[in-house]
This record gives sequence, structure tokens and C-alpha cells, in this order.
Amino acid sequence: MKRAWLVLFGVSPWLTFAAEDARQFVDMPPAARTELRAEMLDFQTALYQIVDALAVGKFADAADTAETTIGVSAMGRHRTAPMNARPGMYMPNDMHMIARNMHVAGSELARTARSGDLARALGALQPVMGACVACHRSYRTQ
Ligand code: HEC
Repeated sequence: MKRAWLVLFGVSPWLTFAAEDARQFVDMPPAARTELRAEMLDFQTALYQIVDALAVGKFADAADTAETTIGVSAMGRHRTAPMNARPGMYMPNDMHMIARNMHVAGSELARTARSGDLARALGALQPVMGACVACHRSYRTQ
């Protein structure tokens, strides 16, 4: 009994995962996914740098990173890329909306961080991270 369960589990974990994964699949060409992943790694690094800067009271640094990497200033990064390398072209409207809201929240975080109030800055970081979570929990590309 136990063995049968193990075999089943061993050969079909991806089936189990697919069955339980209710996220919407978004089909993107490989070039768009490559661009998206590179952008994502920059977002993750930015979050790390922002928290690091806030922790030592470098509010201007946190604000600059937030604006240039995640904020509205960071929008349109793929504007001049060929069509198949522009992830935004393949995002459903609601997914695109989450992305735009994330950029707006990034700029709001930058403005708030400049005030030098740590509690408020953390409060403004939350919707930025909320956008990461909302998109990742709703959509998948593989
Ligand atoms: C609009 C949707 C969306 C938003 C917003 C978003 N992501 Fe992503 N993210 C994705 C998708 C889709 C993938 C999977 C890309 C793939 O592998 O094709 C991904 C993948 C990643 C990865 C893995 C990259 C790799 O090397 O495979 C990281 C890290 C990541 N995101 C971080 C973040 C962080 C941090 C934020 C918020 C600041 C964020 N993402 C916001 C959609 C989003």
C-alpha cells in the first residue's frame, strides 16, 4: 500500500501539481519570458536593497532604488524590444493592471521613504510586495 503510494507520488508529482495549480496560465514566447525573468530578478534585488537601506536609515537610497527599479520610472523597459520580447504584450488585462499598480506603488514607496518615517515607509512597501504576491498567486507562465 505504502509502496504503491510512493510509486504514484514518484511518477506523477507534476500531474498532482497541475491539478492543484489554479493559477491562470499565460503563454509567452521564450524571449518574452527571458526578459520577464531578468526584470523579476532586478525587482527582487531592489526589494533586498530597499529593506537594507531602510534598516540603516538611508531613506534617500531606499527611495532612489524604489523609483528607478520598481517605480513608474521603471515602466516601459521593453518598449523598444521586438514584439516577441515584450512580456506586457502577452499579459491578460488584469495581470497587466497588477504590473501597473506595482509601478505606481513603487513610486509611492519612493515618495514615502523620503519622509524619513520608517513605519510609514514599511507601510508603503507592503502594497509593492502585495503586487508581487498577487501576480505570482494568480498567474503562471509554465
Ligand atoms: C504582473 C505580474 C508579476 C508581478 C507584479 C511580479 N511578478 Fe515576478 N514573476 C511573474 C511571472 C509570470 C514569473 C515567471 C516567469 C517565467 O519563468 O516565465 C515571475 C518570476 C519571478 C521570479 C523568478 C525569476 C527567475 O529567475 O525565474 C522572481 C525572483 C520574481 N518573479 C520576483 C518578483 C518580485 C520581487 C516582484 C515584486 C516587486 C514581482 N516578481 C512582481 C510575474 C510577476
